Amino acid sequence: MKIAVLNDADAKGGDNAEGRVSATPDTVRGYVAAGHDVTVVKGAGQAANFSDADYKSAGASIAASNGAAAKAADLVMSITGRNAKFVAGLKKGAGITGLMNPTDNPKYADACAKAGVTAFALEYIPRISRAQSMDILSSQSNLAGYRSVVEGAGIYGRAMPMMMTAAGTVAPAKCFIMGVGVAGLQAIATARRLGAVTTATDVRPATKEQVASLGAKFIAVENDEFKEAETAGGYAKQMSAEYQKLQAELTASHIAKQDIVITTALIPGRAAPVLVTKAMLETMRPGSVLVDLAAERGGNVEGAVAGKIVETKNDVKIVGLLNWPSRMASDASNMFARNIKNFLPLVTAEDGSYAPDWDDEIIQGCALTRDGAVVHERLKG
Ligand code: NAI
Repeated sequence: MKIAVLNDADAKGGDNAEGRVSATPDTVRGYVAAGHDVTVVKGAGQAANFSDADYKSAGASIAASNGAAAKAADLVMSITGRNAKFVAGLKKGAGITGLMNPTDNPKYADACAKAGVTAFALEYIPRISRAQSMDILSSQSNLAGYRSVVEGAGIYGRAMPMMMTAAGTVAPAKCFIMGVGVAGLQAIATARRLGAVTTATDVRPATKEQVASLGAKFIAVENDEFKEAETAGGYAKQMSAEYQKLQAELTASHIAKQDIVITTALIPGRAAPVLVTKAMLETMRPGSVLVDLAAERGGNVEGAVAGKIVETKNDVKIVGLLNWPSRMASDASNMFARNIKNFLPLVTAEDGSYAPDWDDEIIQGCALTRDGAVVHERLKG
């Protein structure tokens, strides 16, 4: 099949700029060895430290623009999936991959359907065991969790570990992780490695043991509602107003003593729950830092501004920066590219041509469009 690897760098500007690339010289080498014809857009890997020369020596040809690379491709590899205008120019019957944010962007799937293009929204790959090696949400959230602590520690003007020196003792930082999904678990591990006294909270009971196994202390309102707070899919449920009140009281008493707070709490398809209120922020010490990984979905911290670091009147910093995996573009691209490489067999026929296996539940789970129609359950009605 003909594969095009796009340059996503111009997809979104400012703090949200994309530095990742969906194929690396390593994965391209594998595709070429398997008989595929690969075209990479000039500069596609630059921000992730992969040069055009690296791609060339892996066997790819270099195209001058995304449009030129994609127009004859069977499968277009992208981090973002680009936009409605771009997919209108693709070959009928082609496929495109990316993190497409489909429910926020319904016009995109419509445009793919109209162009006869199959859109594979990689964030919808079902989280079943067989698909773990394709789970882009996990590979990228893991890096985001790590980076949030490193960034938070950098902005926090003091040391993370305890230091006992001849000039006196430095107390360890207190780090609180709110939301213990993939990002939160890595944040806990990172904060612990840096020597912070680490606590964590979540509404899903399964996280209690996970937090303890990483050597951190679990803090949560563990009532009857908590025991039922996980959906069959492993995600958090929307909690009742009563639970949220109890949770807020517990958070308020704990947060006043924290130096760095990392929030990662998300509920699929909904705005992020507010876990840290303005009143709580006022009780925090000057110099404390909150890193809000949910800023893109409204934020877990009241007053967080997507794409910005803001400071409260009492000198508490709220970090609402976006696109955390892209801040580690090289590692993030390596993982993203391997996830796509593991996905490729599901759209490849035995003779190597492009042919999605429509009987496979992974393809059914992530394809937004098929044969000119929007087919994904989450986008219908
Ligand atoms: P996510 O990004 O959807 O949410 C992050 C965390 O925030 C979750 O742990 C959630 O419980 C928590 N949260 C939501 N509302 C909250 C609130 N009000 N207060 C405190 N915490 C709150 O989660 P992510 O990282 O996508 O993981 C979700 C689930 O998927 C987990 O159970 C994870 O273990 C599971 N998973 C399964 C995989 C597999 O089997 N292949 C791979 C990766 C994750």
